Amino acid sequence: MNILVTGAWGQLGSWLRILASAASDRFVFTDVAQAGEEQLEMLRRLGGGNVPLGCSALDITDIDGIRQTAEAHGIDAIVNCAAFTNVDAAEDRPELAEALNAAAVGNLAAVARERNALLVHISTDYVFGADPYNTPCSEDRKGTPSGVYGLTKLHGEQAVIASGCKYVIMRTAWLYSEFGKNFLKTMLALTALKPEIRVVFDQAGTPTYAAGLAHAVLAVLDDYRSAGTTGVTYHKSGIYNFSDEGVCSWYDFAKAVAAFAGHDSCRILPCHSGEFPSKVVRPAYSVLDKTRIKETFGLELQWWPEGVRKCTASLAAHASRD
Ligand SMILES: NC(=O)c1ccc[n+]([C@@H]2O[C@H](COP(=O)([O-])OP(=O)(O)OC[C@H]3O[C@@H](n4cnc5c(N)ncnc54)[C@H](OP(=O)(O)O)[C@@H]3O)[C@@H](O)[C@H]2O)c1
Repeated sequence: MNILVTGAWGQLGSWLRILASAASDRFVFTDVAQAGEEQLEMLRRLGGGNVPLGCSALDITDIDGIRQTAEAHGIDAIVNCAAFTNVDAAEDRPELAEALNAAAVGNLAAVARERNALLVHISTDYVFGADPYNTPCSEDRKGTPSGVYGLTKLHGEQAVIASGCKYVIMRTAWLYSEFGKNFLKTMLALTALKPEIRVVFDQAGTPTYAAGLAHAVLAVLDDYRSAGTTGVTYHKSGIYNFSDEGVCSWYDFAKAVAAFAGHDSCRILPCHSGEFPSKVVRPAYSVLDKTRIKETFGLELQWWPEGVRKCTASLAAHASRD
C-alpha cells in the first residue's frame, strides 16, 4: 500500500517514521514545515540509521495540494497526524483551530472518498468534555466539549463520518514522546532543576506513549490491507479509543517520570487544579475504555508506567550523548 502521512514531524508522525523503516508499505511523509536539527538527530538515534527523514511540503488546508500528492503517489490510505493541538492557544484562535481540526480534516476525508482510500484520523478524549464521569468512557458516550479544541476535534470527527469515506478514528489522550513539547519532557526538565514543584492530583487520565499509538495505527493498516483495499466499504470503519492501560493523576505521572529519571532531590507535591487557572475546564476523570480497539484489532496495550519508563530512558540516553 501507499500511505500518506500528514503532520509527519509531530509526536505521532515521528514515531510512524521510526516504525515505517521496518514496514513493507510505502510511506509518503508530509508536513507544513521542516524539522529542526535536534528532532532529526533524535530520529536518527531512535531509528538506528534507517529512519526515513524525507518530507514533502503539504498543508492540509489546501485540498488541491492533498489531491495532487495523493494522485502522484497512488495513495491507498491516509494517516492524519496534523492538528492544532495546543488546547489553551485554541481558545484565542478558534478560526484557525476550526480550519485545521475540522475543515482540513474534511479535505482529507473528501480526497480519501474520491480515491476509495482509508482515512485513519486521530482524535481526542476532549470530545467528551468536562462532564463529571467517574467510569471509563466508551466510544458511544455522549459528551459536551468544554473548549474550542475539543469542539473543533468533534467537528473533525463529524466531517470524516459525513464524507462517506472508509475511516478509522482513534481517540487518544495525554500523548507524550521524545519529540516536541509534552508533559513528560516538562517534568523531566523541572524535576532536574527545581527543589520543589506542585502538580495537580485532581485530574485523572492515562498517559499514552506515541510509540504505542504508532504501533496501533500500523496494526489498523495491516488489518485494512488484509481485508482488501479495493472494497467500497471497510467493515471495521468506526471510532475507537486508544491510550495506554491504567489510570493516574498528573501528580502520579510526574512522580513516575522523576523516579525513572532518578531525580530524587525534587520534592513533588500534589495540588488542586485551581492553583493553575486555565481558560479551558479540564475533565476531572478522563479515562478511555479501550475494549473495542483491543477486541477488533487484537491489540495488547502497555501499562502506562512502562511507556513512561521507556521514554524517560530514551531521553536520558540521548542527553548523555550531548
Ligand atoms: N498531544 C496530546 O496530548 C494529544 C492528546 C489527544 C489527542 N491528540 C491528537 O493526536 C494527534 C497527534 O498529536 P501530536 O501530539 O502528535 O501532534 P503534534 O506533535 O502537535 O503534531 C502535529 C503536526 O501537524 C503539523 N501541522 C500543523 N498545521 C498543519 C497543516 N496546516 N498542515 C499539515 N500539517 C500541519 C504541525 O506542524 P507545526 O508544529 O509546525 O505546527 C506538527 O508537525 C492530533 O490529532 C491530536 O489532536 C493529541
